Order: sequence, then C-alpha cells, then structure tokens
Amino acid sequence: MALLLIGLFLLASKGFGQTSPDLNSKALTILQENCGGCHGGPDPYSFDVRDPASLLAARVIQSGNASGSELIRRLEAGIMPLGGYKGQRGAKLPAEDIQILRQWIDAGGPESARLPRSVQRQFISESQVLAAIIRDLASAPEADRPYLRYYSLANLWNSVDVEESELELYRMALSKLVNHLSWEKEITQPRQLGFENTVLRIDLRNYRWTAETWREIIATYPYGLERSDLLENIHRVQALSGVSLPYIRVDWFIANASTPPLYHTILQLPGTLDELETLLEVHATFDVEQNLARRFGLRNSGVSRNNRAMERHSTVYGAYWKSFDFAGNNPGQNIFRNPLDLRADGGEIIFNLPNGLQAYFIADRQGKRIDAAPVNIVRDRTNPDDPVVRTGRSCIGCHVRGMNVFRDEISGTLRARPQALFNLDRAEALYPGQQELDRLLELDNTRFSRALGRTGSRTPGGTDDEPISHLARKYESTLTVSQAAADLFIENPKELEKLIEQSTPLQIQGFDQLLGPKGGIKRDSWEQGFGLVARELGIGEFFSPTPRRQDILVTVPQ
Ligand code: HEC
Ligand code: HEC
Repeated sequence: MALLLIGLFLLASKGFGQTSPDLNSKALTILQENCGGCHGGPDPYSFDVRDPASLLAARVIQSGNASGSELIRRLEAGIMPLGGYKGQRGAKLPAEDIQILRQWIDAGGPESARLPRSVQRQFISESQVLAAIIRDLASAPEADRPYLRYYSLANLWNSVDVEESELELYRMALSKLVNHLSWEKEITQPRQLGFENTVLRIDLRNYRWTAETWREIIATYPYGLERSDLLENIHRVQALSGVSLPYIRVDWFIANASTPPLYHTILQLPGTLDELETLLEVHATFDVEQNLARRFGLRNSGVSRNNRAMERHSTVYGAYWKSFDFAGNNPGQNIFRNPLDLRADGGEIIFNLPNGLQAYFIADRQGKRIDAAPVNIVRDRTNPDDPVVRTGRSCIGCHVRGMNVFRDEISGTLRARPQALFNLDRAEALYPGQQELDRLLELDNTRFSRALGRTGSRTPGGTDDEPISHLARKYESTLTVSQAAADLFIENPKELEKLIEQSTPLQIQGFDQLLGPKGGIKRDSWEQGFGLVARELGIGEFFSPTPRRQDILVTVPQ
C-alpha cells in the first residue's frame, strides 16, 4: 500500500509539467488560426477544427500516426492551407507548426485531448455524492453524527483536466492540510468513502475543530448549491447531522484553508507574537538571558533580502523558530555589528503543533500578526508570478522537509574578534555555531517527516513536489470549460457551452469567455458568478449559509 502510494505520488509529480493539455491547446490554436476559415464556421469543409473529433471522423488524421495522416501529408506538400499560408500563394505552414501538429497526432491527437483516461471514468452525479453521505451518516452512531463533515472530489473526478494520479494527490493534500490545522495530538487521515473514494469524511473532534470552525469555513464557500432536484437528499443530510451544507469541495478547501484569513481562523492563532509565545509557553527574553535559546545568523538568506538571524526555543510540542528580518542593511539592521540586540522589522515563526507538523506565523515590527510578509523584507523566489510570502501555504510550499538547512555565519566571526560593541562571551553562548544548528535541524526535521508520513504523504523532494501549494496554485489558475462543466455536474462540456450561448444574462455577465477552443475563465470570476450561473441554468439556488438547526457547539479545551 505504501509503495503504491509512493508510486502514485511519483506519477502525479511527473504530471506537474502537464505537457499534454498544453500541446493540445497549441495544436488546436494552429488549426483554428490557419484552417478555421474554411474548415470551421457554419458550413465547414469535410471537418470542423472547433470539434477536433471531426478530424477523426473525416479520417484526415490517424491517432498516433502523424506520418500516415492525410492532414500532415497535405501540409508538408503545401496543398493546405488552400491559397497558401496567410494568403501568400505557395507558402507552406511554418515547419515548427507542422512539427507541433505531428507531435500532437503522434500523442493521440483529438483522442488524447477529448478522450483522456479520465473520460473512461464513469460520471458521478451529485445525487450519488449525497447518497454516499447519507449512507455514511445513517450508519454512524447517532452521537457522532453532529461532528461528521464531508468533502467531495466529484468535480475533479468528472473533469478531463484532472489526471487519475492527481486525484490521489488531492486526497493526500487534504489529509496533510487538515492535520496542519489541528491542535490535536494524534494525526488522523480523512476517511475515504463513496464511489471510487470520491467522498472524504472527517470528524471535527480529531482536529479540535468545532461546529463554529466549520461554519466559518463554509461562510465564504462559493459553490454551495441547493439543487432543486436534490432537495430531499439535502434535507435528509441536514436532518441526520444538523449541518446545512452537505459537503464542500476538496480543491476549494486546499486553496483557501491553507492561507489567511481561514488559516488563522481555523488554527485560532492569536493576534500578536507575545500572545503566541504565551500560548506556547515560550519565554523568549528569559531564554535568551539564561542562554537557553539558540541563535544563528546568515548574511545571504534564501528568502530574506538582507541579513537575517534565527532563534530557536524548545516547547512542549517540539520547536519554536523565529526569524529576525530586516528591511535594510544600515548599522542598526546589521546583525554582525551587534548580534545580541536585534531590532527586526518583522519576523517569521515556525512552531510545532502537538502532532509534530508545523504551524506558521508572520509578525510585523510591532509584533502584530500579519497575513503576508512585505516583499521588501522577504520574497518567494520559487514563484516569480506571485512572490508574496503568505502565512501557511507559502511556508508549507518551501519548508517541504520541515526546517530549511542553512549555514550559520555569525559564530565564526565572533571567535575572530578581539573587540566588539557587545558582550562577546554572551554572544558566544547564544550563538553556538553550525554543529549545534545541524543537530537541531535534524531533530526538528525527523519529528516533522514522521508526522507527515502519518498523514499519508511522503516527504516531498522539492518545492515543485509539495501537494498543497501545487494544487492551490492550480486552483487559482484559469479554468477550462470542462472544469466549469464538472463544477456544475454537467457531464458534457458542450452542453454547458450551448446553455451559455442561449443565455443573454450569462453573456452579459461575461461567461461567454468560456466558449470556443481557447475559452476559459479566471477563478475569482467563476467563484463570484457560480451562483448566478447555477440559477440561470435552472440547476438550483445558491446556498444560504444560515444553519437549519442549531448546530451543536463543542468546546475546545484551553
Ligand atoms: C481557403 C480555404 C481553406 C483553408 C484555409 C484550408 N483548407 Fe483544407 N480544404 C479546403 C478545401 C476546399 C478542401 C477540399 C478540396 C481538396 O480536397 O483539396 C480542403 C481539404 C482539406 C483536406 C482533405 C479533406 C478530406 O476530406 O480528405 C485536409 C486534410 C485539409 N483540407 C487540411 C487543411 C488544414 C490542416 C488546413 C490549415 C492548415 C487547411 N486545410 C486550410 C479549403 C481550405
Ligand atoms: C521561498 C522559500 C521560502 C518560503 C516561502 C518560506 N521560507 Fe522560511 N526559510 C527558507 C529558507 C531557504 C530558510 C533557510 C534560511 C534562509 O536562507 O533564510 C528558511 C528559514 C526559516 C526559518 C528558520 C528555521 C529554518 O527552517 O531554517 C523560519 C522560522 C522560517 N523560515 C519561517 C518561515 C515562515 C513562517 C514562512 C511562511 C510565512 C516561510 N518561512 C516561508 C525558505 C522559505
């Protein structure tokens, strides 16, 4: 089982490059731009490039065999495009474009695009999802039902954009994330149920969440629908568990609960560094005075723009690491000048949760909690599109093995100094050097990787390999019409396109951008418009998050 999981993960991580959807869209763009005038439109000749399957039907391409395909033969002979490339008589389609079309056909052509492995997956209806939830609730002891909450993968399962192997990655990422948001000692993996394990169940108590925690999660959930044809099932779930919304989607949760505000809300992190240290029983000043704390410093950080110091304290749960980050390198901000008196412009904190995983916190100069680090202080160089370091997801995406290894550059300079502005003996006690640093990092990372293993994930090889940040980034990219259809439980994306074509209100709201071979929509527009689309299409009404019955409140022991 473990081997199988690792195998799946490797497969999934290979899929990160996603060459095939890319190749597919490049090939279709070339066909659309150069051939669409005649092999498209209302009366296409022989095949229609907007419907790639028609290329197969017209037998102008043979899947997996570019050289044997009539289409390639005509392009290489310069017979097509008729009238020449861009209307220049005798000009052939550029060789690079022909090469892309060759690769595309060799990789399966429209077959690979329209009928990827995922289409062989049987479509799951929302009523199946609800039926699985109802069965599970009904078979659970009555006393447990109010604590059970459900996640669904059906919209990913039903989408041609999601590879089989990626589904497993979503399950792993969910398990990892709920445990990263837990104050409970034990690690608990969500339970898989329903058709092909596309429903996942958690018990709030396993993470010390309350009904209120869940209410705050669903308060911003944009995809809650009361489908008119499923009201009976929805009411049945509500009657069994007292929860208004039967389930939420895994992809949305991974992208949203991994970052503030939900990240802070779910973990109930306090508003200041002082309160955080009190909560964790870290006595920072005392520890420094008594030489219980350990400090290290570096001139060139991997993330901080200037020199940076790190301080470690032990806690009952493991470690508490705090960075001292600076906005500049003037004398007051130079840790080499006085490593005892650090006046940081901000700090990033990593501490162990009771289960051994990590939690994250960013503080400003006043010690107040903030959601993201100012980019003049630290930046995420692994993510040029969005270099902002946000609490939670950014940290998880870079601290893949727990703590990050670095070289201490302070302690060596101390020994060499005959004189200093500060007490050298104290500094030498506080800055123990590389060997001690290596020992502590090893200790902390062993704790972390053991905990991670219990969530069902292996330790990622690198930042590209980390499921939560990878899937969150994927969630935030543009959606295709197939994903949009799957989000609405519409089996055939063409049907959704047709419905949009027929709806003036949806076109006025800009949903016509989903139409056509290059159609797509930005995630935030889709989230905002989802309720409207569902209503316009007569699927159902947007869920009002007000609970039907008083949810049972569970008190969290302090
Ligand atoms: C200006 C109009 C026009 C353009 C542009 C054009 N075609 Fe054609 N195409 C035709 C016509 C007309 C025929 C039918 C006559 C023939 O078979 O030569 C045809 C036939 C074909 C056929 C054979 C169809 C069959 O059923 O056997 C292929 C393959 C083809 N085109 C590919 C392409 C490709 C690929 C492009 C774009 C790179 C393209 N054509 C661009 C007008 C066009
Ligand atoms: C772009 C990658 C990246 C991101 C994002 C990132 N870190 Fe780090 N972090 C590092 C590196 C690399 C080090 C090693 C020291 C250095 O180079 O600054 C480090 C070190 C640390 C340390 C000292 C302990 C250790 O692991 O060595 C703390 C504490 C820390 N980071 C907190 C955070 C927090 C909190 C976040 C999220 C808000 C975060 N980091 C986000 C790369 C990152």
